[in-house]
Amino acid sequence: MHSSYDADVPTYLDLAREYGDPILELGSGSGRLLIPLARAGYRVTGLDCSEDMSTLCRQKLEAEDDATRERVTLASGDMRDFDIDTEFNMVLAACNTILHCTTTDDLLAVLTRAREHLGPNGVFVVDFAVPNVLRMLQTSDIEARFEMLHPDRGTRVIDTYTVSYNFVKQMETYEARIEEWDEDTMVRWSEVSTERAFYFPREVELALKCAGFDIVKTWKGLRGGPLVETSQDMVYVCRAASEGPWAVSRRRR
Ligand SMILES: C[S@@+](CC[C@H](N)C(=O)[O-])C[C@H]1O[C@@H](n2cnc3c(N)ncnc32)[C@H](O)[C@@H]1O
Repeated sequence: MHSSYDADVPTYLDLAREYGDPILELGSGSGRLLIPLARAGYRVTGLDCSEDMSTLCRQKLEAEDDATRERVTLASGDMRDFDIDTEFNMVLAACNTILHCTTTDDLLAVLTRAREHLGPNGVFVVDFAVPNVLRMLQTSDIEARFEMLHPDRGTRVIDTYTVSYNFVKQMETYEARIEEWDEDTMVRWSEVSTERAFYFPREVELALKCAGFDIVKTWKGLRGGPLVETSQDMVYVCRAASEGPWAVSRRRR
């Protein structure tokens, strides 16, 4: 459903140009971001715990040329607990992937694993949507509907969903019934329920510091440049801390 979202791709291509490869993408999903990076010439490893998402990614890679495919490694695993024997110049947790960390322990585990996989000059880049509290209050528990055309089949996809927010637990519950219609015939449907956390920027900053990072660059809005107040995305570029109370050894072994 998000395959056409590409607003963040130019930002990540710019970051790859600045920091180089190899790149590790945590929660690489269907390869929406990983494939353009590989196509641009960067070696990318994608880690995801969902076999379905990795299968989609492999299917999409089949349409790419040999050189692009050879630059991609897909790994199956949990971003809270993985060990890949490579030092990366860039580790990414893009497009709200950290919101799948529903406890602070999970968040710190992911950030720590990310730091431990950085080479000496490597950076960790994370982006996530800043909670829009007013909108959340206005839309919580209210059924909504989203329609789109299936990107391959051209059929109508109707997502009838309810998002509920728990402001004490900082959790978002999304419950949806998704239907695919071919003219007047419903060809398939599915019901899904997912839970994600929502985090405010200072919480993520604190977690990054606790996990041993120095934040070297931050901006709001995925196109970089000056602060874009209308954007809800926060981007942090971090390096392993070299000194100070949160300094930790960069080396794993
Ligand atoms: C919001 S999607 C982002 C996908 C991709 N990065 C993109 O930008 O299109 C989050 C991805 O993280 C994966 N994921 C969630 N929890 C995970 C975990 N604990 N370990 C590894 N992958 C995880 C999901 O399967 C999903 O593919």
